Amino acid sequence: MALRLGVNIDHVATVRNARGGTWPDPLRAAILAEAAGADGITAHLREDRRHIRDADIDALMAGIAIPLNFEMAATAEMQAIALRHRPHAVCLVPERREERTTEGGLDVAGDIARLADFIAPMREAGARVSMFVGHEARQIEACAEIGAAVVELHTGHYCDMVSAGNDAGAEVELAALKRAASLAAQLGLEVHAGHGIAYDTVTPIALIPEVVELNIGHFLIGEAIFRGLGGAIEEMRRRMDAARP
Ligand code: PXP
Repeated sequence: MALRLGVNIDHVATVRNARGGTWPDPLRAAILAEAAGADGITAHLREDRRHIRDADIDALMAGIAIPLNFEMAATAEMQAIALRHRPHAVCLVPERREERTTEGGLDVAGDIARLADFIAPMREAGARVSMFVGHEARQIEACAEIGAAVVELHTGHYCDMVSAGNDAGAEVELAALKRAASLAAQLGLEVHAGHGIAYDTVTPIALIPEVVELNIGHFLIGEAIFRGLGGAIEEMRRRMDAARP
């Protein structure tokens, strides 16, 4: 099955916000990403608005032709924003103010009743609801139980181990991701993966047959400093396509 690439443009907004003005513009990055082969755009509206702002979501909804994957915490404020915009997809993530990035997966198993109620109106509004989880079987099973359409598997620990040169640890993490992807597919969930993916980790993840979408941000925005955003994305796309012809 073809593998879709979702480009996360949060860190274009991080750079913009460092000076407080309007440049660089996340919408321009999204349009460029589409031209370079992205199948979708991901943006995380955090409670503290540290990168993406409400006006960015307005601009992305109006300005891009490819689907928007709206990443958000499971709060009433974010639910109202999602229902107002009705994006193609909503990805629920855990959020802690003090974290630098989304560190772990959601505890869906520990919050089944609330999350089932929380996602119901968004499902009814037609959004594909995705849950960002680790590879534990009970979390995947809980996602199926609450009626989510998609699980996005957290690849951050695997990528960290590869970066640290911990081959044995990386192998264990990759095997766990493969088992999780297989279980999710058996339960009828669409499988996505994301977090920390770079050129050196994309191929093993792209080779997991059940995975149909990768969401990649930080590495691509960083690599864009050296080869331009279009070139950075095209190279990622090339590696994904080589793994999954
Ligand atoms: N997927 C989810 C659910 C995320 O929270 C993030 C980070 O915002 C990503 C993918 C992209 O991770 P990275 O920026 O490390 O590529």
